Amino acid sequence: MRRRALIVGASRGLGLGLVARFLARGWDVTATVRRPSQALADLSMDAPLRIEAGVDIDDDGAVADLRTRLAEVPDFDLVFVVAGIATQAGTPASLLSREVVGAVFQTNAVSPIRFAEAFHRRVAPGGLIVLMTSKLGSVSLNRGGGWSSYRASKAALNTLARSFAGQHKGADWGVVLMHPGWVRTDLGGRRATLDVETSARGMVGVLEAHLGQRGCVYLDHAGEKVPW
Ligand SMILES: NC(=O)c1ccc[n+]([C@@H]2O[C@H](COP(=O)([O-])OP(=O)(O)OC[C@H]3O[C@@H](n4cnc5c(N)ncnc54)[C@H](OP(=O)(O)O)[C@@H]3O)[C@@H](O)[C@H]2O)c1
Repeated sequence: MRRRALIVGASRGLGLGLVARFLARGWDVTATVRRPSQALADLSMDAPLRIEAGVDIDDDGAVADLRTRLAEVPDFDLVFVVAGIATQAGTPASLLSREVVGAVFQTNAVSPIRFAEAFHRRVAPGGLIVLMTSKLGSVSLNRGGGWSSYRASKAALNTLARSFAGQHKGADWGVVLMHPGWVRTDLGGRRATLDVETSARGMVGVLEAHLGQRGCVYLDHAGEKVPW
């Protein structure tokens, strides 16, 4: 049977690249966006891609609506929350408005875990819940300290994910915190070392190899463990 992925935040960047790569690998894909994306629509021609619009992960009602809309489809082998932001990441968190820091934490840490909580019953046995984090979320690797609000939000996501996995100990699915590498997207910037296709190819390979494993791991796109 074909494997099934739900990719959350697929309008552009890594989410879009992941959809293209999962389709190329023969998966059935359901992809969500906040607003319609022509680039994503272009991938759906003659491909097993279902697109769900209006899904803002910061909106619990929108996530609940999505769950209702997908109630009749078979369970997913992989649920991947890709969406994330880096608003004013160059300004130290201590100098940013509370609103901006709070919004970064909501989107990058709180919302992905709430999405995982809303969808874990839709993960097939042996499947994975994957949350897009960053190496910048590693506390032990933090020497330079830049991008402090973003770093802290991804560190918070990592901790919330470990707690989530502990809370669901005994579940028949696993949790992967994924670092995609430094990738040329709107968020990663033009100086980043990887293109989207290389990162997505790596991540999909790592995740296909990880299916069936439980617990909570922090991996990069090459399958290397990232230190917490
Ligand atoms: N690029 C890198 O080097 C890098 C490195 C480490 C980690 N990451 C992580 O990888 C993920 C994807 O980043 P990217 O580089 O592809 O960035 P990107 O090109 O800026 O894309 C961000 C994506 O997240 C979506 N999004 C943002 N807020 C959302 C919300 N509240 N609800 C639903 N969707 C939302 C955006 O949708 P809209 O089009 O609607 O705005 C867009 O699809 C992020 O979690 C990021 O932190 C990236």
